[in-house]
Formats: sequence, C-alpha cells, structure tokens
Amino acid sequence: MMNAILTKKFKEHFDATPSLLVRAPGRINLIGEHTDYNNGFVLPAAIDKAIYFAISARDDKRCILFANDLDDSYEFSLDNIHKSEKSWANFLIGVLAEIFDQGKEINTGFNLVFGGDVPLGAGLSSSAAVESGMGFALNNLFELGLSKLELALIAQQAEHKYAGVKCGIMDMFASIHGKANSVIKLDCQDLSFEYFPFDFPEYSLVLCNTGVKHNLGDSEYNQRRGECEEGIRIIQLAFPQVESLRDVSMPMLRSQADKLSPIVYRRCKYVVEEIERVSVACKALENRDLTTFGKKMYETHEGLSTDYEVSCTELDFLVEHSINLDSVIGARMMGGGFGGCTINLVKAEAVEEFIEKMSLAYKNTFEIEMLSYVVKITNGVEEIQEIYETIF
Ligand code: GLA
Repeated sequence: MMNAILTKKFKEHFDATPSLLVRAPGRINLIGEHTDYNNGFVLPAAIDKAIYFAISARDDKRCILFANDLDDSYEFSLDNIHKSEKSWANFLIGVLAEIFDQGKEINTGFNLVFGGDVPLGAGLSSSAAVESGMGFALNNLFELGLSKLELALIAQQAEHKYAGVKCGIMDMFASIHGKANSVIKLDCQDLSFEYFPFDFPEYSLVLCNTGVKHNLGDSEYNQRRGECEEGIRIIQLAFPQVESLRDVSMPMLRSQADKLSPIVYRRCKYVVEEIERVSVACKALENRDLTTFGKKMYETHEGLSTDYEVSCTELDFLVEHSINLDSVIGARMMGGGFGGCTINLVKAEAVEEFIEKMSLAYKNTFEIEMLSYVVKITNGVEEIQEIYETIF
C-alpha cells in the first residue's frame, strides 16, 4: 500500500517510475535497554511498521528529497553536502555524507520520495529506519558493495553527527538485520548475533503509546552515556582490565561504591543487572518460558524507572496499570525513554479487552488518547519487488 502511494507521488514529482523501492522497518526491543552503548546484549526485532523509499538516479549532481508525510522537499548538490536547517533532511544527508567519508563514490544525484507509518517520537526508531533505508537504497542503486553491518554503522554515525544523539547500534542493526518471527540477540561488544524464534501464537506484542515525548530525551540520553563512562573511569582505577560495564560484576561494582557518586553508582548498577537479565531472559525464551521472560521485563522497567531514571509518569502509569490485568505477563517502557511506548506481552485472546482497559485508564488519568499497536515481527530492510506499473 505505502509503496503504491510513494510510487504515485514519485511519478507526480518526477514524471517517471522509480527504479528502486525499499522498505525499512522500525523496531521493538524485548529486553536489554541502554545496554547497547555499554557493550551489553539487546534483544530487538524489526516490525510491520516501516519507512518506504522510492528512488532513481539522475544524470546530473542534484539530489531532490521529498518527505511525503511532511509534504516538504529539500534539494542540494552532491558537490556541496552540508547540514540542512530542515532536521528531517539531515537523517538522509548524514547517511550520504558518511558513505562519502567511507571513501565510496557516488557520481550522480538522485530523486527520492520517502514516507511511512512508523509513528514519530514513539520510541520505534523511525529515524534509524530512515537512515537504514537510505543507506540500503544508495548501496543498491549505486552498487557500493557495503555489507549489512557497514550500513548499520553508517546509519549510527549519521545519527551521531547529523542528529546529535550518541545512540548505540541497536536500532539500525535491528532495522537492517531483522528476520520474520525472530528476535535478534545482539552482542554489542563484538556485534555477533543470533536469531531466536519468537513464535508464540497464544501471545501478542502490544505497544501502548503514551503520546508524550518529554523534550529532555536527547540530552538526558547523552548524559546517561556520560555517567556510564564516568563509572568506568573510576572502576578502572581498581580493575584496570575493565573496558566497559560488560566486564563489571555486581560484587566488583559494590566494592567501588564509596568512590562513585550515588547517581553514577545507580546508573552502573542498572546496566550491570540488565546485561545479566538479558541472558536469563534468553534462556527463558529457549525454554519457551514466557512467564519468566515477562517477569524480567517488569524488573527491567523497575530498574529503568528507579536507578536509570529514564522513565516518566505516563510510562510508569501504563506499566503499573498492566500489572492489574491477568492477560498481561510482562510490560516495560521501551527505547530511550522519557515518553514513547510501553511494550506488553498480552494473551492473544484478550488483546482487545486489554487495549480498552488501558486506554480508558490512561484517558481518565492524563486526558490523552492512548494509541496502541499490535505488532508483528518482520524481515529487516529489503527491496520491494512488486510490480508497481499496474497502479497507474
Ligand atoms: C535509543 C537508542 C538505542 C538504545 C536505546 C536504549 O533507542 O537509539 O541505541 O540505546 O535508546 O536501549
């Protein structure tokens, strides 16, 4: 559907059919939050909400970008790549700039239309989907020969340099490496990964969107990274072999408690516990024990809220309210925090009732409509092969 809409737009704008269509999904993360930039494990998956791209090469150096959802366009020359005052364009330009920094050559410009249904600011990584899809599209269109991992690293650099968020690798890795009905256990230390089947027909993955995005998010995110780095510097004085919080155990951390500020101690404690929690949760998944998995999700939320302090009243409310419902076996805030969605493991037969009860309680408390999404796990970024000429 979206690819048909974008193809039509492309035709309206450029009077031609695009030579390539790409789908780049958003992501969920089952467990392992704020562990990626601490060399820990994460357990994300790509979902059936995505950003779509329609693209063709030009024969001059102009690059024309059209953001369908914003009804806005931006144009620049390949000879003059720099940050734009339009923040949406920077996610795309950042990827192009990073590809050049890697020494790859692109000699002609391109026409691009993009848009999709990943809700913005909901913690589903719409920006990583944009960056991953852009890298994938350019890689295919200009035959750059970049691997999936290289594309993920390029997308991450684009986010660091052009969006100013020092994010980890999880979001783009998931958008690019996603596999239908599987979650990805990614070791962020060496970027090795394995797929775990996530096929539990009796349970659904439901996201509850707080509809808020507290604007401290990006600066607090960078600050958390800084606090973890400060913790490492101090721990290293006693344990020089430690390179990241991945190498720290709770007894080691406790032994340094009096040298760390209470805040830094709590940040490190959360990360050390969460890295361990992902391993336990994965074992539970292998044993098809979703009840234990769900308990771990609640523990993660508690840590994110109390020790890491990246939750907010709205997220806490949704997680706490879910505890009262028999149909839910696990829930927690998801992603960077300060708003966005909670992820809930809900008995499939009770999804409708769950959504009704949660929406009502949320509306009564915050006077905000709670949007919800029942998500399916899909493949990662891919070319769309469907014939699109038929829609005209
Ligand atoms: C954001 C970042 C990710 C990750 C999560 C928290 O989504 O982009 O790299 O750190 O927050 O787990």
